[in-house]
Amino acid sequence: MNLRTTYLGLELKNPLVPSASPLSRSLDTARRLEDAGAAALVMYSLFEEELQHDNDVMDAYLQNQSLGHAEASSFLPLHGDMPSKRERYLEQLQHLKRSLDIPIVASLNGVTAGGWIDYGTALQQAGADALELNVYYVAGDLDVSGAAVEQRYIDLLGELRRHVTIPIAMKLSPQFSSVANMVHRLEQAGAAGVSLFNRFYQPDIDIDSLRVAPQLHLSTSAEALLAMRWIAILHGRVKLTLAATGGVHDHSDAIKMLLAGADVVHLCSTLLLHGPRRLAHILHGMEQWLEESPYESLEQMKGVLSQRHAGDASAYARANYLQLLDSYLPGVGI
Ligand SMILES: Cc1cc2nc3c(=O)[nH]c(=O)nc-3n(C[C@H](O)[C@H](O)[C@H](O)COP(=O)(O)O)c2cc1C
Repeated sequence: MNLRTTYLGLELKNPLVPSASPLSRSLDTARRLEDAGAAALVMYSLFEEELQHDNDVMDAYLQNQSLGHAEASSFLPLHGDMPSKRERYLEQLQHLKRSLDIPIVASLNGVTAGGWIDYGTALQQAGADALELNVYYVAGDLDVSGAAVEQRYIDLLGELRRHVTIPIAMKLSPQFSSVANMVHRLEQAGAAGVSLFNRFYQPDIDIDSLRVAPQLHLSTSAEALLAMRWIAILHGRVKLTLAATGGVHDHSDAIKMLLAGADVVHLCSTLLLHGPRRLAHILHGMEQWLEESPYESLEQMKGVLSQRHAGDASAYARANYLQLLDSYLPGVGI
């Protein structure tokens, strides 16, 4: 069964790609993911704040030296003794490249078009096959308009493109007034792909301790519907890679994303819950489904349930919405 697909211009043997997560911090786990059939691997993110912090530590160190604080070297570690986050990330990328045969996608995570983005050059030089840029930005400023938030994404992409020639995927949140237009603009600005969607982690409130309680819930399959809708709308209307992330837990979730039009399917929560072998299980389920399906290859089935031929996607969604509400029958006795 031919499961080949294209991701950010890279030819992949199948569409299953573990997304950014702590799983790529361990070489052994990364190898097990490759053995289970992962077609590429997205690394955990290197954050703007971490890069900035490294710069601040170095600046403080150099300033103390230049001020003539000879004793500074006794309480501040020498640069050579202190592998920074950026150095550790580069080393891990190089280890992954040496140990695995599949493409490795490095991940940057930040919100301002500052100097940190130069680091893309080092990632490219260290062998990254592509870069994913996650703009995890919660627009909480009353004076910042939606247009300004969108421009932030375009500017960040433009800045990164000035530093690298490898393909760039933008990991987006679903919270845009027009997701379709945003993806179209990013394509015009040179993105090779989009990963839909980034999850915003929403803090809860503990009513006993009267504290805000940050929480990280792993996803469920129900979350896959959000990306599925937008991928179905975008398939055939844009040329860049559509990567589905969020809520893919089994082979049927993955197949639905592909029928909607995804080029690749990212996995995270399910691998954190069940371990790398889960990927082999999902792959096997997909192969079996395809064998029994009318399709001879993944390429043939991709997007057959997209909205490519639906004409006006907004009118189509509204018609379905009306029909759905109309068809609901309240339970007996309500
Ligand atoms: C523990 C954990 C760590 C994550 N770390 C990152 C990260 O470093 N960078 C990133 O872009 N996404 C990160 N993600 C988001 C995942 O890559 C993925 O997009 C998200 O969890 C939705 O997919 P899922 O439903 O398969 O989990 C992380 C998710 C989890 C649960």
